[in-house]
Amino acid sequence: MTSLDQDSQKSAARVGLTSDTLRIHGGKPLRGRIEVRGAKNLVTKAMVAALLGDSPSTLKGVPEISDVHVVKGLLEAHGVRVDASEPGVLQLDPTNVVSAHFAEINAHAGSSRIPILFCGPLLHQLGEAFIPDLGGCKIGDRPIDFHLDALRALGATVEKLDDGIHLTAPNGLTGAHIELPFPSVGATEQVLLSAVRARGTTELKNAAIEPEIMDLIAILQKMGAIISVEPNRVIVIEGVEKLRGYLHTAIFDRNEAASWAAAALATGGDITVGGAEQQELMTFLNVYRKVGGEFDVLEDGIRFWHPGGPLAPVQIETDVHPGFMTDWQQPMVVALTQADGVSVVHETVYENRFGFTDALNEMGAHIVVHKDGIASITRRVPRRKLEQAAVVTGPTPLHAADVRVPDLRGGFSHLIAALAADGSSTISNVGIIARGYELFLDKLAQLGAEYEVVAPSA
Ligand code: UD1
Repeated sequence: MTSLDQDSQKSAARVGLTSDTLRIHGGKPLRGRIEVRGAKNLVTKAMVAALLGDSPSTLKGVPEISDVHVVKGLLEAHGVRVDASEPGVLQLDPTNVVSAHFAEINAHAGSSRIPILFCGPLLHQLGEAFIPDLGGCKIGDRPIDFHLDALRALGATVEKLDDGIHLTAPNGLTGAHIELPFPSVGATEQVLLSAVRARGTTELKNAAIEPEIMDLIAILQKMGAIISVEPNRVIVIEGVEKLRGYLHTAIFDRNEAASWAAAALATGGDITVGGAEQQELMTFLNVYRKVGGEFDVLEDGIRFWHPGGPLAPVQIETDVHPGFMTDWQQPMVVALTQADGVSVVHETVYENRFGFTDALNEMGAHIVVHKDGIASITRRVPRRKLEQAAVVTGPTPLHAADVRVPDLRGGFSHLIAALAADGSSTISNVGIIARGYELFLDKLAQLGAEYEVVAPSA
């Protein structure tokens, strides 16, 4: 069994899935309404932020996804009391934080990259932190050099061990001038979570400004932090000695919303995504409209549908916010297989995020991945070495196939493709999808999808 299979099974078990293989009977439009709750990319970080307070925090809008269970386990291993008194609400009490055993941290961390964000809070609380080797989706190298460089700049000593890293800061952290080589989401969060309680002021240049980061800053401000977001990706953090707990409702999951929107388009369906908001999806909505999808912004969500007739091909460049997010690319590619002509998707954030297209080609799509990108004079962002491009020629009818989920967003795109395809497909490792898509089987049922959970073989 590979580590991906193990991650999938653990992830499935965490959210109560009895098997991580599905049989999908496709070719039927998805129709109906589902709800999205708090964003995976905020909730997990907000849970870590609770570690910085000297009193309990309450987080609302928490989705039932396995990454939340991973962070809960990690927090509990460090002595944080985590209570879920009602669905979607977590109480996090950090008043008795202790060091955790390496093996215990490792046991929880396997499938997530969140442990790296424990560095700053643990350094403030305990003067040291053990961080195991990181998992997360296998999309490129996903190094942590920006994180470690930032922590060193703030005064931490980093020691590499065989199975992780050990950080110390016996004299506490001190404010610094830091410039990120790329506006990394994780590294920006690392600096925020480490600098809020450092001595003095930190100036972070080339920071990421994703909506989930703004929500994290709002949480930290509620806790007593002084953080200003200045023009041109500069964030200034004036360190404070103490922070208190927070009460916060997480921003909605714009990646989940975009995924269901793409599912509506790819299956010729009509899905209302309750809880989705326009502002955080504006770039996605523009592309959706150019492809030929329709949407209506409602008071409590957004309705997405395929209005009939041919879809149009588009050129997309993934980018940092406010650009077209890399996590939207995979589900949209499935819809683009049904567009009338040639679409080009440039991936500029990760170096290996088109692996999922092999399975789509097996299902009848015509997608050619250019591993070194494609030169174009109309490029909006400067070329990065790692960039790749996928050329999607459509429309191609999709047919059923047996596929194995490679990563979170790629996996959801396989699910959409199987739902759009004629015939019955088997999808294994769907536990990976449970890392970030809340109750996706229930939602599929609500939308009229036909599927069976395949019983695990003995
Ligand atoms: C987060 C999101 C993920 C999203 C991504 C980009 C979470 C849990 N995940 O991932 O859904 O796709 O932002 O919006 O919030 N890099 C380095 N060195 C580092 C850190 C990053 O080279 O130390 C590179 C990465 O390899 C990648 C790029 O920077 O090429 C962007 O990564 P980053 O923004 O850090 O993504 P994550 O925070 O891991």
